[in-house]
Amino acid sequence: MRSIFITGGAGFIGSSAAEFFAKKKWDVYILDNLSRKGTRINLNRIKDKIKKFYLEDIKNYKKLNLILKKIKPDVIIHAAGQVAVTKSIVSPREDFNDNILGTLNLLEVIRNNKLKCKLIYTSTNKVYGNLNYLKLKKNKDRYFFKNLKKGVNEEFNLDFHSPYGCSKGAADQYVNDYSRIYNIDGYVLRQSCVYGTNQFGIEDQGWVSWFIIASIFKKKFKVYGDGKQVRDILYIDDLNNLYYKIALNKKKLTTNRIFNVGGGNKFSLSLLGLFKILKKEYGLKLKYSFRSERKGDQKIFISDNSKISKIFNWSPKVDPIKGTRILINWVIKNKKKVNSIL
Ligand SMILES: NC(=O)c1ccc[n+]([C@@H]2O[C@H](COP(=O)([O-])OP(=O)(O)OC[C@H]3O[C@@H](n4cnc5c(N)ncnc54)[C@H](O)[C@@H]3O)[C@@H](O)[C@H]2O)c1
Repeated sequence: MRSIFITGGAGFIGSSAAEFFAKKKWDVYILDNLSRKGTRINLNRIKDKIKKFYLEDIKNYKKLNLILKKIKPDVIIHAAGQVAVTKSIVSPREDFNDNILGTLNLLEVIRNNKLKCKLIYTSTNKVYGNLNYLKLKKNKDRYFFKNLKKGVNEEFNLDFHSPYGCSKGAADQYVNDYSRIYNIDGYVLRQSCVYGTNQFGIEDQGWVSWFIIASIFKKKFKVYGDGKQVRDILYIDDLNNLYYKIALNKKKLTTNRIFNVGGGNKFSLSLLGLFKILKKEYGLKLKYSFRSERKGDQKIFISDNSKISKIFNWSPKVDPIKGTRILINWVIKNKKKVNSIL
């Protein structure tokens, strides 16, 4: 029986991965400090499917060390951390400790115990900064890159904006360098916007989910900027399929452990584009007002998935119409749960 250890395993991505691997008959161990709203709901959903839940904090090296020494998992997905740019600006030290210290602790446990496991790190497109040097075009709904056909690839310069950008970016580099120096089988996935069922999106993070929840609950919401900002959105099932492919991959990569991972060009969408879908396809009524643009926000980010697609034979399958439909139905079916975190 293969085993997987997931930090942040009661969060959106972590709990979905836990459920996915449990279905594949892996022994699943998760750790979470339950700091995010909605994590208890997620935990209830998965607790009977997993081997063990550890209520711990990744900042606690000693505890993390004891746990991992015992489990010796085949794969670790590191998804715990502070996740919102806005929060990182208010509390940069907490953000630093959760994202940098937490990641360093995990790497040190792997190194000190010579654990032979794969490590998948959930990095972010934010490591590329606001990309305001790229030429853009726009129409009434969205921005486009003027000259970039496939989107942003891994060769783009790192340019950390916001404490969150710095802490995720630093952890991204630590994972890459520990893999190089200490021969750890690490994979850094620079994920774009991930969305799906069991995501309790809030104004600060998880925009697709947040706008859908706000629309269904008839809540007024704010749009920062002109609403034409574009992201490539990745449905959670597609991400889990990728994690699984990496988990099963036998050939250890010696270089090139960093990958951009998103919905890609085909699944890119602006905020106004999402609103159109919500109104046209689902008849939802939206109440929103505009505010000034958030500092450091990218006008457009689209991942060039070429590298990950080539090495892992992976590409996203769930388009935004299908993905939003699944999410809308989930919110409607789980109104009570969703309302409890609003
Ligand atoms: N959702 C996205 O679109 C997206 C995109 C790029 C990267 N990421 C990264 O993926 C990871 C998971 O994101 P998510 O969307 O599932 O967010 P989430 O908030 O649902 O999950 C994070 C989990 O980590 C836990 N946590 C936070 N600090 C902790 C600590 N010190 N010790 C133990 N647990 C702690 C939280 O309770 C939560 O359950 C994050 O690291 C995030 O930066 C997410």
